[in-house]
Amino acid sequence: MATFAAPLTLGIESSCDDTAAAVVDAEGRVLASLVARQLATHRPWGGVVPELASREHLAAWPTLLEATLDQAGVTIDDIGAVAATRGPGLLGSLLVGLSLGRGLAYSRDLPFFAVHHLEGHVYSPFLRLERDIAEDPPAEFVALVVSGGHTSLYGVDAAGAIETLGETRDDAIGEVFDKVGKRLGLPYPGGPLVDRIAEVGTPTVRLPVPRLEGLDFSYSGLKSEAIRAIERLERDGTISFEQPEPFDQERPPAAIADLCAAFRQAAVAQVLERLERLAVTRPIPLLAVSGGAAANRLLRRELTRWCDERQIPLRLVPLPYSADNAAMIAWVGCLGARRGRHDDPRAIEASSRLPLGSSAGTA
Ligand code: KG4
Ligand code: ZN
Repeated sequence: MATFAAPLTLGIESSCDDTAAAVVDAEGRVLASLVARQLATHRPWGGVVPELASREHLAAWPTLLEATLDQAGVTIDDIGAVAATRGPGLLGSLLVGLSLGRGLAYSRDLPFFAVHHLEGHVYSPFLRLERDIAEDPPAEFVALVVSGGHTSLYGVDAAGAIETLGETRDDAIGEVFDKVGKRLGLPYPGGPLVDRIAEVGTPTVRLPVPRLEGLDFSYSGLKSEAIRAIERLERDGTISFEQPEPFDQERPPAAIADLCAAFRQAAVAQVLERLERLAVTRPIPLLAVSGGAAANRLLRRELTRWCDERQIPLRLVPLPYSADNAAMIAWVGCLGARRGRHDDPRAIEASSRLPLGSSAGTA
């Protein structure tokens, strides 16, 4: 068996509706990363129900932990450190994973790292697949986090301090993909499906990119435009909610595919426009892109082109670590250990709102 660099860190993430566990070694090799999703529980309610989420986290833990250790080929006695998400997120959900992490660390006398969920995303693009060692984050870089809850640009420095450069003033990019998907009658989360349908369409109309000053984002205008366009398709009979499936997802009508393509193009164009603005005000030593919506195919292609043209090194999060996962949480724990910092497992409280830079080992 290959040797791994001690200590092995157990990562725990339960900030929203995904229960996740991972084992990562000191050099950032991901030995196992599993996620138990709760989609079926929340789907009938059309969104995440916090009380149900915490109950599901509790129920999922024993099996998930065992499966994660199994996949890593280790036992709990091989674990040398514990990292758990402290916030932000749903309080009841956070409490489940954080309490487990605190208890394990305290009872086994292991170093403990309380991690800010977004810092997990920020450093996730440096993880590698297939048990490869992670890349050391450079002294300075710009992070773009695109998810169901965030559309943000951050400046990260060598000490781990994170400066917010821009963020959405209303909806997050993943959230509007989901809302457009929902309006099209697609199951939650609609984002990946809208992306897939857009691949076979042509953006024949141009949807607007908001004229905001600075580096902030805004997606609610685009959402309304897209929904108005869907309503027009409904009126002309292209989509019919009279049927169990409003349209055939495998063979979407051209008008729907074209609309998805136009919507996706405008959503991605806004990201590129903000990056363009940032690039004229400061150097971008490296761009690290993460979050669930970083799986978007057009976004990945366009960011690759944009960075190539400007010779900006680009790190796109590997797909298994784009959505919420615990490998990214364990990895922030590893970075904390390198900086010689950790937290007291008896003293850390979960927090639904948490300022950036509060993970152990960061600023
Ligand atoms: O990071 P994540 O798992 O959870 C949050 O912290 O929000 O991101 C989930 C979001 C959802 O809104 C989902 O629809 C979106 O990421 N997403 C996508 C794609 N895949 C996932 N959005 C657009 N295109 C995709 N391919
Ligand atoms: Zn997230």
